[in-house]
Amino acid sequence: MGPSDARALADFLKVVDLTLSGLDAPTVRLWVERGDEGEVVASTGYEISADREHALIRSVAVDPSLRSAGRGGDLARFAFERAAEEGACTAWLFSRRSGPFWRGLGCVPADRYELANVLGETCQVRLFKETGQLDREVAWSRPLT
Ligand SMILES: CC(C)(COP(=O)(O)OP(=O)(O)OC[C@H]1O[C@@H](n2cnc3c(N)ncnc32)[C@H](O)[C@@H]1OP(=O)(O)O)[C@@H](O)C(=O)NCCC(=O)NCCS
Repeated sequence: MGPSDARALADFLKVVDLTLSGLDAPTVRLWVERGDEGEVVASTGYEISADREHALIRSVAVDPSLRSAGRGGDLARFAFERAAEEGACTAWLFSRRSGPFWRGLGCVPADRYELANVLGETCQVRLFKETGQLDREVAWSRPLT
């Protein structure tokens, strides 16, 4: 994602109801896919922990009109691969609505407070702690090695 993608990505993430926190943070890696008209049709990314051991997968989303064709799985695997290349050993994520999707990618239910402990400095965890959303979240994890 380049600077010119930031506004369009934020608009897209609002539509798919995902968090906008920290989109410009230096620890956050994001990719966007554009459609024929230049509109954002999909995104993926992660935020890496300070020790680079853990990656918080985030912003994995596909435009509703393009779902159920394998794109979401490809984007999630792309994020896992890039995070592993960067040295992360474990991928973590929050997802209340798409558990079966993440299970299909090898993720298992995880302790949300353990996630918040190992990724405590990430934008998403800080926001979820501040707002109390952490207590309502569902966490998942998957080894990357
Ligand atoms: C989750 C999401 C990225 C999946 O995108 P997609 O392009 O439909 O994904 P795929 O086509 O690769 O789906 C793979 C499988 O997961 C299933 N699946 C996808 N979303 C699902 C959901 N919300 N609940 C249950 N199953 C789901 C699909 O049915 C498919 O299974 P199948 O191949 O056996 O039919 C998409 O639904 C989305 O953008 N959701 C809103 C954003 C979101 O919640 N992101 C996750 C948190 S970061």
